[in-house]
Amino acid sequence: MDPVRNPFAPGAGTQPPELAGRDQIISAAETATLRILQGRHDKSQILLGLRGTGKTVLLNKIEQIAEDAGFLTSFIEAPETQTLAQLMFPKVHQVLRKLSVIEASRKAAQDGMRALRNFAAMFKVTIGDVTIHTEPEPGIADSGNLEYDLIDLFLRVGEAAKAAGKGWALLIDELQYLNEKELGALIVAIHRINQRNLPIIFFGAGLPQIAALTGDAKSYAERLFDYPPVGALDAKAAHSAIQQPIEQEGERIEPDALDMIVSNTEGYPYFLQEWGYQSWNAADASPITTTDVITASHAALKRLDDGFFRVRLERLTPKERDYVLAMAKLGKGPYRSGDVADQLGEKIQTLGPRRAQIIRKGMIYSPGHGDIDFTVPMFDDFLRRTQIV
Ligand SMILES: Nc1ncnc2c1ncn2[C@@H]1O[C@H](COP(=O)(O)OP(=O)(O)OP(=O)(O)O)[C@@H](O)[C@H]1O
Ligand SMILES: [Mg+2]
Repeated sequence: MDPVRNPFAPGAGTQPPELAGRDQIISAAETATLRILQGRHDKSQILLGLRGTGKTVLLNKIEQIAEDAGFLTSFIEAPETQTLAQLMFPKVHQVLRKLSVIEASRKAAQDGMRALRNFAAMFKVTIGDVTIHTEPEPGIADSGNLEYDLIDLFLRVGEAAKAAGKGWALLIDELQYLNEKELGALIVAIHRINQRNLPIIFFGAGLPQIAALTGDAKSYAERLFDYPPVGALDAKAAHSAIQQPIEQEGERIEPDALDMIVSNTEGYPYFLQEWGYQSWNAADASPITTTDVITASHAALKRLDDGFFRVRLERLTPKERDYVLAMAKLGKGPYRSGDVADQLGEKIQTLGPRRAQIIRKGMIYSPGHGDIDFTVPMFDDFLRRTQIV
C-alpha cells in the first residue's frame, strides 16, 4: 500500500501512531502533576523496562502533560560519560532564567542563580572548554556533598517556581547511566523537597537494574517512588497498536494477519512498529493478509538484525561478546551466572568483572541474585540466528 501513508513509526523515541496500553501510567502522571502543583504530596515515578518498550516515548508524553499542567520542564538524557552536576547545570539555568523574568519570582530566581553558581563551581562544571570559577558565597550549595548541594539547589528552584505559581518537572531518561552515588543523591534530594511541599516532581526512565539501589536511597526510593513496569503490551493493547493506525488510514488488516504480528513480536512495542511498517508496505492492497505478514517478517527481521540488534552488539569488546554468546547458547533466559561460566569453561569469579562491565554498558541485567538476562528483548534469538554457526 502507499508507503507515503504508512502510519507506523519504528525508531528510538519516535511517537507511535497509537500509544497503546499505557493509560494507567499516563493517568497516574496526570494526577501526580496536578496534586504537586496544588502543594499536595504525590509520588515521583521511575519507569523501568527493557530496550524498545516505549520508555522514552512515555517520558516525552509525561513532559507534555506536565507542561500543560503549568510546569517548567527539564528533560535530560543521561549519557554514559557525564556527571549529573554537568547535566543539571544548563537545565536548571534555563529554568531559573525563565522564572527570573516573571515579576513574582524574580527575587527567588536570583537567589537560585547564586546557588547554581556555587553548585557549578563546587562540582567543576564546564561550559564549552571553560570551567566555572566563582568565589562561592558561603552557605548555599557549596558543601561539595552532592546530596546536600542538590537539596539546596532544588529548594531554591522550588521556591522560585512556587512564587511564580508554577512547578518544575525534572525528567531523566537512561537513568542507569548515572552512578549509584548520583542516583542516590538525586532520590534523597527529591524526597527532601517533597517534604516541604515545594512544586517539584521527578520522572525517570531506565533499564531494570536501577531498582537495585543500596542504603538510604533504597529505603527512600521504595517508599516514595512508584516503579511502573514498561514491558511488552498485553494481547489487547498489542492488537490495537497495529489495528488502530491502519483503520485510521481507512484500510484494514485480516484478523489472522493481526494475530500473526502480535505473536511474532510478542507484543514488544518497537517490534510492533517494525512489523506494522513492513506489513503495510508488503501489501498490494487492503486488507493486509497473512501472506503479506510472512513477507514482512523477513524484511522486519533483517532491519532489526542490521540495526536495533547489531548496534548493540557492536558496543561490546570481543571478550564481552564471548560472554553474551555463551548466554545465548544456553537457550532462553534468565541464565545462571554459573551456567554461563561453565559454558565458557571458566570460573565464575574470574568472569565477575566482565559481567559487571556488560551490565554497565546496559546490555544485560540481573533480574535476581545470581541470575542474568538480556536487556534487549529477543537478543538471544538474534545471536543464535546470526552469530552462532
Ligand atoms: N505504547 C506503545 N504502543 C505502540 N508503539 C509504541 C508504544 N510505545 C513505544 N512504541 C514504539 O516503540 C519504539 C520504541 O520506543 P522508545 O524509543 O520509547 O523505547 P525505549 O524503551 O525508550 O527504548 P530504549 O531502551 O532503547 O531507549 C518506537 O518506535 C515507538 O514508536
Ligand atoms: Mg529510550
